[in-house]
Amino acid sequence: MSISTQWKSPVRIFIVHAHPEPNSFNGALTRAGQAALSGAGHEVVVSDLYAMGFNPVSDRRNFTTASDASYYHQQSEEANAAAHNGFSPDIQAEMDKLFWCDALILQFPLWWFGLPAILKGWVDRVFASGGRIYGGGKWYDRGVFAGKLAMCSVTIGGPPPIYSSGGLNGPIAEILFPINHGMLYFVGFTVIEPFLVHAPARIGHSERQEWLVRYRERVLGLVRAPTIAYPKLADFDDTYVLKSI
Ligand SMILES: Cc1cc2nc3c(=O)[nH]c(=O)nc-3n(C[C@H](O)[C@H](O)[C@H](O)COP(=O)(O)O)c2cc1C
Repeated sequence: MSISTQWKSPVRIFIVHAHPEPNSFNGALTRAGQAALSGAGHEVVVSDLYAMGFNPVSDRRNFTTASDASYYHQQSEEANAAAHNGFSPDIQAEMDKLFWCDALILQFPLWWFGLPAILKGWVDRVFASGGRIYGGGKWYDRGVFAGKLAMCSVTIGGPPPIYSSGGLNGPIAEILFPINHGMLYFVGFTVIEPFLVHAPARIGHSERQEWLVRYRERVLGLVRAPTIAYPKLADFDDTYVLKSI
């Protein structure tokens, strides 16, 4: 790969890794990406959620503060915590990594057409409202993380045809829409087309190595990777319907 297609100055990459088995293909992808980026002089931080024992259950333990001790309303507590520095240390640490990074990578296997629960719980707890991560007019292209990149790197049990537009499981872009649009773009990230590896259990060693080479190329070329073109807030009327429809 020519150096001109890569980032010219060191950047900060935050990988959130969600797989219970270190020797899985997900584990190999994260290690390959981390090594390639570090080797090219970039800074990489990995939150290996299973290794950390990350608690995915969202409740009062998210906070060191309480605005209403008699009734738990998460978004109200998030607003209160944002105003009073009241997030629990495990959530605050993840927020700090999000603000630190230039690009976020979510590495996960597709489980039940979505995120593994540990990663969904990470989003539930860390993407807090009240203006810290979203809210108060900060969403989509006016979001807190506008100007940063995000990408899902996903392994999928089924082969590509079953996830095509006429396929039995439906298009993979639609399955990933809640994550790419509803989570990553919602909080302001520019979303890169996902890196997808289908049926890693059914491919041989040499093909796996080829996928790891492609993944190294993808992460080193993240800045020029194709992005998903979502409409901007200005494209919608005051009922949030596209003006052009
Ligand atoms: C709980 C669970 C749910 C799964 N759901 C799906 C699914 O919805 N679609 C699919 O294609 N594969 C599904 N799979 C298969 C995984 O996506 C597949 O095993 C994984 O991506 C392979 O990567 P790995 O070898 O790194 O684990 C599921 C597996 C598990 C354990």
